[in-house]
Amino acid sequence: SRADIGVVGLGVMGRNLAANIQDKGFGVVGFDADATQRGRAAADGLVAAASMEVLVVGLRGPRAVLLLVPAGPAVDAAIATLRPLLAAGDIIVDGGNSHYPDTIRRGRELAAAGLGFVGLGVSGGEEGARHGPALMAGGDAAAWGRLEPLLTAIAARFDGQPCCGHVGADGAGHFVKMAHNGIEYGQMQLIAEACLLLRHAAGLDWPAAGTAVAGWNAGEDASYLLAITGDILATRDGQSGRPLLELTADRTGHKGTGVWTVEAALGLGVPVPTMAAAVWARALSATRDQGAVDGAYAAPAAPLAAGDIGVALAAASLVAYAEGLDLIAAGAAHHGWRTDRAAVAELWRAGCIIRSATLDRIAAALRAEPGNQSFLDRRWTRGQLADALPAWRRVLAAGADIGVPLPAFAAAFHHAAGRAAPEVGARVVAAQRDRFGAHGFARIDRGGTHHAAWDGK
Ligand code: 6PG
Repeated sequence: SRADIGVVGLGVMGRNLAANIQDKGFGVVGFDADATQRGRAAADGLVAAASMEVLVVGLRGPRAVLLLVPAGPAVDAAIATLRPLLAAGDIIVDGGNSHYPDTIRRGRELAAAGLGFVGLGVSGGEEGARHGPALMAGGDAAAWGRLEPLLTAIAARFDGQPCCGHVGADGAGHFVKMAHNGIEYGQMQLIAEACLLLRHAAGLDWPAAGTAVAGWNAGEDASYLLAITGDILATRDGQSGRPLLELTADRTGHKGTGVWTVEAALGLGVPVPTMAAAVWARALSATRDQGAVDGAYAAPAAPLAAGDIGVALAAASLVAYAEGLDLIAAGAAHHGWRTDRAAVAELWRAGCIIRSATLDRIAAALRAEPGNQSFLDRRWTRGQLADALPAWRRVLAAGADIGVPLPAFAAAFHHAAGRAAPEVGARVVAAQRDRFGAHGFARIDRGGTHHAAWDGK
C-alpha cells in the first residue's frame, strides 16, 4: 500500500520525525541525497527510497511531502526537484527553520502551479522530533486539512491537548517559530546571567548553582530550559572530575534565527529589547578578545539572596514571552494572518524548547483578558511584574556593584519599567525633532500637530 507522507532529508530531524510518524501508524517513505543517511534511516526501520521519483510514486494522493533540509537554498533545490513530479492538489511541507519571507514566496510560487504549501515550525530538537514536537503550521486551509490528522498524532501533548495548530496563512507558522526562537534566545541568556549572579553575587560554586536552578525548576515556573540548565551545572568532566562548564569556552554562536526575529521586530516597530540583548550577547561573546579579559569579579559587599535571582529571572522570562507574543500580534496584523495568541501560548506548553508551567498561566490570562494591547500592558502581566520589582532591583544593583554584565536582565527590566513608568522622556525627543527638523509634536491640552521655535524664549 502507498505511504501517507514522504520525508525528504533524513538527517537528525527528518529521521526522527519519520520514525515518530511511523510509530503513530502512518505509512512513511523517506529520501536523502546522501546514501549514508539513507542507510542509517533503513537501519532505524524506515523505508528509504533511492530517488525523489521513487519516493513520489510510493505516496497516496493527494500526495504530501515533508522537507527537512537546511533552511535556504536547499529548500528551493528540493522544491525544484519535486515540483515536476507532483500534480495539482499535492502538498509540500517545509519543516525546517525557514525565514518566513521565503515561505511566503514559495507558497505563492507553488500555488500558481496548483500545489499546496505549508510552512511548518518544528520545535523540540531531536528528542521532540522522535517523541513529540510542538508544531506551528502556516499555509492554506485545504493543505492543513490534509495534514492535520497526521501532525496532531505526532505532536507533543499538554493535558491531552496536542501541541499542534494552524496559526495562519502562508508564512505564519515560520513567523511563530521565529518568535519562539527569539524567546528561546532571551530566556537562555537570562538563565546564563542568573548563573553568573549565583556564582559571583550569591557566592555559590557550580554544583550549588545547579542545585539552586533545580530548585527553581521544582517551583511554579518550572521550564525545560531550567531543567536542562540544572543538569548542565551538575555535570562533571569525566577525566578531571571538575565541573564541565569550568572547562567550556565562554563563547557561543548561532544559526541566525534570533537575528531574523530582531530584524522583523525592527521592521514592525515592536520593542523586543530582551531578545535583542541576547543576540548582542552572543555576538559579544564571539568577538571579544580573550586576552583582554580580567581575572575575577569584585567580591560583593554582602551576598545576594539566590531567591531574589529566581524571582527576577521569572519576571524577566515573562517579559521575553511578552515580547514574542507582541511580535506575533504585530506580524499577524501586518500580514493579515488570523493568529490567536492564546492558542499559540497553549501549543507551546509542551514539546518545544520554551515550554514551561508559566505558559499555561499566560494562555489563561490571554483567554481571560482579550484585546490587542501589548501583553505587558495587561492587568495580569503588570501584577506579576510589580510583585517582582523589589527583588529585580536588588539583582540589578548587585550586578552593577560587582561589575557582572546583565544585558538581558537590564533590557527586560527597562522594557517593563518603561511601560509602567510615569514618564519615559519621549517628550524631550519630540521637542528636539521639532526644533531641528520641524517634525511637529502633539500636545496634551489641544488636538492636532504643533510646531514651536523651541528657542528658549
Ligand atoms: C527548537 C530550536 C531549534 C533551533 C536550534 C538552533 O525550537 O527546537 O529553536 O530549532 O533552531 O536550537 O538555534 P541557534 O543555532 O540559532 O541557537
